[in-house]
This record gives sequence, C-alpha cells and structure tokens, in this order.
Amino acid sequence: MAKDLPPSGPRHVAVIMDGNGRWAQQRGKPRLFGHHAGAKRVREIVEACPEIGVKYLTIFAFSTENWKRTQTEVAGLMSLFRRYIQREAQDMLRRGVRVRFIGDRIKLDHKLVRLMDDLELLTAENDRVHLTIAINYGGRDEVTRATKRLAYDIEQGKLTHKDVDAETIGKYLDTHVLPDPDLVIRTSGEARISNFLLWQSAYAEYEFIDTLWPDFSDTEFKKIVGQYAGRDRRFGAVKA
Ligand code: IPE
Ligand code: IPE
Ligand code: MG
Repeated sequence: MAKDLPPSGPRHVAVIMDGNGRWAQQRGKPRLFGHHAGAKRVREIVEACPEIGVKYLTIFAFSTENWKRTQTEVAGLMSLFRRYIQREAQDMLRRGVRVRFIGDRIKLDHKLVRLMDDLELLTAENDRVHLTIAINYGGRDEVTRATKRLAYDIEQGKLTHKDVDAETIGKYLDTHVLPDPDLVIRTSGEARISNFLLWQSAYAEYEFIDTLWPDFSDTEFKKIVGQYAGRDRRFGAVKA
C-alpha cells in the first residue's frame, strides 16, 4: 500500500538564487561582489545532490526581466557567466555533471552562447547529476516561444489543433527533456516566483527561506530536501 512506502525525496529541485545584491549591500560592496559570491555557492549545492537522491537541479541565474538593471550590472553578470563556464567546464565534466541551459539565447552575446553550446556538448554523456541553468529565462517568454513554434508546425501541417494537449505543449518548452520540478526553493525572503518555470511548477512544493543566496549552504539545502519527504502531495485527489 502506498502509505507504507518510505517517504521519497524530490527528484527535481529548482532554485531561485536570490539575495546577492542585498548580501553585497550589507557589506558595503557593489552588487557584483554579491553575484561573484553567489556563483561560488553553486558547486557545493550541485555536489550535495547525488547523495540525497536529487537527480535534476535547475537554477535561475538571469531572468528576462533582469535586463532592466543597470548596464554595469548586466554586463558584469554576462561576463561572470562566461568566466564561470570557462572555469568550471572541465571540472563539471569530471564530476559527472550534465549541464543544460534554458532561456532565449537570441539576446545573449555570441561568445557566451558558444560557451553554453560547448558545455552542453562536452557534458552530454554525463548522468550523475543534471544541472540546468536558466539564463535570459522567463516562464511567459518560454510559453510564448513554444506557442509560436507550435503554431508554425500546425501551419506546416506537421500536426493539427486536435493534437494539442498538455503533453504536446510540454514538448515545445525549453525543459522538454526534464521532469517537472518537485520542489522550488527561493532564497532571500521574497515569497514570489518571478516568472520561473510557470508551466512546470504547477504542482511543485515551494520553500521560501530567508537566507541570502551567498550564505546558502549544502547543510541548509539538505535539510529542506529532507523536509520535503514528509509532505503529503495529493495532486488534487483525496487520500484515505
Ligand atoms: C539574484 O540576486 C541574482 C540575480 C537576479 C541575477 P539579486 O541581484 O536579485 O539580489 P537582491 O534581490 O537585489 O538582493
Ligand atoms: C529572480 O530574482 C531572478 C533570478 C534569481 C535570476 P529577481 O531579484 O530578479 O526577482 P524580483 O525582481 O525580486 O521579482
Ligand atoms: Mg533579487
């Protein structure tokens, strides 16, 4: 009987890494100092995944709304992404991390897109943990792009409106190869999802925690993941 089964942990955890700016501000430093500190936390969280059964980790690095920030901050973040990929690529390959990127690449600079493509290719055979990094990602933008491609395929006669169901839509999303997230964690005390994985998180559990992202540790991550196992996920049904 299902209720006698041991509680199972989340297979896919998504994280809204928020609070870098405030972390830097508290130290009287520029916001980019916080972003650099934040980037350093990622490896520890990725490494914690296999031992607690998390196969998929998806992290929000830059949203479609983040272009509204100052040119200095945006350029600094883009340069951080480039350097991060260059620095971490070989190590990710060795540690069995399969890296994917979601989001619209059209607005990103060519050098960054090349590094992203190369890293996806380099780690394509890895299977220890699947890390997805969302850059220039927005849930509404993703659904809009998916809908455009779907409409185009209908125009081309590849399918008809009768073929469109939730599964079909899922196939057109950036996340088409990933399972839906079971748990979404947001750091920094804000209780909103800021356009992250809107479609995919329909039945995710949420954890909003006060810790600023650069202070987030593997210990706290493991604790949250452990608590998830105790939650009763009913998916709209009634359990005896
Ligand atoms: C999250 O930290 C990182 C990005 C959005 C790129 P923030 O930069 O949003 O930090 P706060 O929210 O201003 O503290
Ligand atoms: C969400 O954080 C985006 C990322 C973590 C990349 P924001 O700081 O941009 O979100 P808002 O502005 O507080 O909603
Ligand atoms: Mg923020």
